[in-house]
Amino acid sequence: MKFAFAKPALPKSGTVAVTVATDRALGAAGRDLDQKTGGTLSRAMKASRFTGKKEETLAILAPAGVEFDRVLLVGVGKGEDLSEAALQAVGGAIVAALDKSGETEVSVLLDLPDGGTVAPDAAAAELAFGAQLRSYRFDKYRTTEKKEAKPSLKKIIVLTAEPDTAKRAYGRLEPLAESVAYTRDLVSEPANVLNPESLADRCRDLTDVGLQIEVLDLKKLRKLGMGALIGVAQGSAFEPRVVVMRWDGAPDAEDRRPLAFIGKGVTFDTGGISIKPAAGMEDMKWDMGGAAVVIGTMRALAARKAKVNAVGIVGLVENMPSGTAQRPGDVVTSLSGQTIEVINTDAEGRLVLADCLTYAQETFKPRLLVDLATLTGAVIIALGHEHAGLFANDDWLAENLLAAGRSVGEPLWRLPMGDAYDKDINSDIADMKNVGSGRGAGSIVGAQFLKRFVEDLPWAHIDIAGVAWSKKDTATVPKGGTAFGVRLLDRFVASYHEGK
Ligand code: BES
Ligand code: MN
Ligand code: ZN
Repeated sequence: MKFAFAKPALPKSGTVAVTVATDRALGAAGRDLDQKTGGTLSRAMKASRFTGKKEETLAILAPAGVEFDRVLLVGVGKGEDLSEAALQAVGGAIVAALDKSGETEVSVLLDLPDGGTVAPDAAAAELAFGAQLRSYRFDKYRTTEKKEAKPSLKKIIVLTAEPDTAKRAYGRLEPLAESVAYTRDLVSEPANVLNPESLADRCRDLTDVGLQIEVLDLKKLRKLGMGALIGVAQGSAFEPRVVVMRWDGAPDAEDRRPLAFIGKGVTFDTGGISIKPAAGMEDMKWDMGGAAVVIGTMRALAARKAKVNAVGIVGLVENMPSGTAQRPGDVVTSLSGQTIEVINTDAEGRLVLADCLTYAQETFKPRLLVDLATLTGAVIIALGHEHAGLFANDDWLAENLLAAGRSVGEPLWRLPMGDAYDKDINSDIADMKNVGSGRGAGSIVGAQFLKRFVEDLPWAHIDIAGVAWSKKDTATVPKGGTAFGVRLLDRFVASYHEGK
């Protein structure tokens, strides 16, 4: 998709999208166009159920009195509801309405109602950002799709009074949209293509955007003593990898300690010897979603030259059953020195994260830790696909993550932790076991397990099992891998560590 920003002027071809507020309220540009077309816009609205609600659309083909081919009315709702996320959704709605129409080019007449908090030039940029997010598609493996079935839209021109400032604002958002797409590509890639070794190799390419990349191979992981992570990987034909990505964007900061982001990267989770049922097992290709979000976030921070020091660490393994696989009852020694009785080989994510958490703390002495993981099916029972689960040992960190999630439309819901839950993972023969004894509170028990590997520093765990993949299209997220967390962490960094 190509994007451009220009001063308002009606084109000679293509589609003109016109924003309409609640109760069919046209702005000045809309009224002007209505007049030019002999009242076609108001007549079309009256003849339909279109009222101008946010994300509603109505196409009018071959309007009289103008040279272009189509008017697309786009609802934007009430002025006071026009947040950044709402403007992005409007951009997404335009893409969704035109991508199957055969249209290749749309000029958007941005004619917003009063009362919004986003300035018009920024609004133009947010709209383009939303359109870019929505136009993402993972189609590299479609070889027979007919041209008529492919998305048609190629170019979006946003018409606004201050095109140069809009373009600059969009320039700041574009690297983020590209990083979201990069993350979605990783999440969608099947596990015969993306395995721990090939994913680590892809990470190496991120030196191009300015990240420092270090890949720890099996020999190194053994030497370090990451017994918990290695145990998960030992049934696979692929070696595990831990990838360390560094971005030092604030080398002169008074406090140079980095923020650390940790991701679960299980490139396929069969469950291991505690094997999962066949139905739906293909979903477990995206059990590396946490790692993908960490990789995408680090990419975004580097691409926009964020003034922050950050380190991203992802634990990459494949969880397979085989003659060399870990057995239920095995005891492994983690990098922290704590021993773990592996009761269920399907509770593997926490084993991988445990060693990454320890490595992050020992190696980088970070200011804070945030880990992301498709950790538990239980979080889907609790929160469905609308919120990710948030766990934290620090209220300040939790509040700031919650706020960042709210403002970018990637909402979190905090769940409790406590000693009573922690007791549930005491083992009779080792320091702990990897699952609780009951069936309740599975997501909390998972978080309690991780907490045993966190020393005295602010830490948050985000369980994205319910939100990493979507089975339906939403305004800015087409179905498939969502990259939920990339925009959130980028905003978290911008708001609380760069003072933006
Ligand atoms: N990767 C799964 C969690 C998951 C389930 C993610 C469904 C996305 C969709 C994780 O490794 C797992 O298997 N967790 C177990 C934990 C249990 C054995 C304590 C689960 O949720 O059943
Ligand atoms: Mn599992
Ligand atoms: Zn898993």
